[in-house]
Amino acid sequence: MKKCIKVVDEFVYKIIRNKTEQMSKSRDESRVMKKSDILSRFLEMKKTDPKYLKDIILSFIIAGKDTTASTLSWFFYMMCKHPLLQERIAEEVRKATRTNEYSSIDELANSITDAALDKMQYLHASLTETLRLYLAIPVDGKLCLSDDTFPDGFRVRKGDSVTYQPWAMGRMKSLWGDDAEDFRPERWFDENDCFQQESPFKFTAFQAGPRICLAKEFAYRQMMIFSTVLLGTFRFKMGDEHRRVKYRTMLTLHIDGGFIFLLPIDQATRFRRPRTIEMDVVVFCLYV
Ligand code: HEM
Repeated sequence: MKKCIKVVDEFVYKIIRNKTEQMSKSRDESRVMKKSDILSRFLEMKKTDPKYLKDIILSFIIAGKDTTASTLSWFFYMMCKHPLLQERIAEEVRKATRTNEYSSIDELANSITDAALDKMQYLHASLTETLRLYLAIPVDGKLCLSDDTFPDGFRVRKGDSVTYQPWAMGRMKSLWGDDAEDFRPERWFDENDCFQQESPFKFTAFQAGPRICLAKEFAYRQMMIFSTVLLGTFRFKMGDEHRRVKYRTMLTLHIDGGFIFLLPIDQATRFRRPRTIEMDVVVFCLYV
């Protein structure tokens, strides 16, 4: 274990060194940095303690990469299973970003503002509905540090392990109604068709209480931006319509064997070849 941690730490320290060098070089040459990522933002804030930076980067990678990537895989799977929903979200994206089906990817990406994202209620609800059914962290275990009593009077002892099951909770009819197994984003709307949050103790995808996911809103933003660009540009179809998609039991909920999307040919030829291929490969690489 110690050896593995060392390998991971060294990998991250190398990234920090490279970025620091890159930044001081671009400052010397008085060039404006074109790529601004999270690490460079911390460095710009003069946060340069390598251990502090290493811990930040590892939290982002470990807590943030697989969770959002697997949620997006399941979300695009749902989009393939529900083509009308997919079309509806694409329409919402075009409306919110004031683009049309002939806009380029760059035009679309440049028009994704916070205000535009806030208008995408259907996309927000669909990602949340995905997370209800396909929780990125399906089972979450804890270890009791001291004796304690649950609100219902159940006692636990120091050293006991306690596990809650977001996967099961997301599908319980007593919580979500008789259609709990159905993918129905509308369940998240209030009477004005606006997205309505649920209690985190009922919708437990991000956990609840003081140790709730630190980056819940950030994760939504990331997933919404990514989905906006893809659904505003392409239509997705399953590579094999008859395939039985199953999950793989891991810490995070991956699609077993990954997932290959097909772009209908009229969509794929709308842009110059390299751009289309690049998009295809990105989807394949990120989520397999
Ligand atoms: C769909 C995306 C995500 C889901 C479903 C998710 C879910 C969760 C859950 C269930 C926990 C509690 C784990 C536990 O204590 O047992 C957690 C904690 C955490 N998450 Fe997320 N997460 C997501 C994305 C992210 C992203 C993108 C980041 C960072 C960029 C992040 C950073 C963290 C951190 C730092 C914690 C630890 C908080 C603490 O212990 O106080 N998460 N997340």
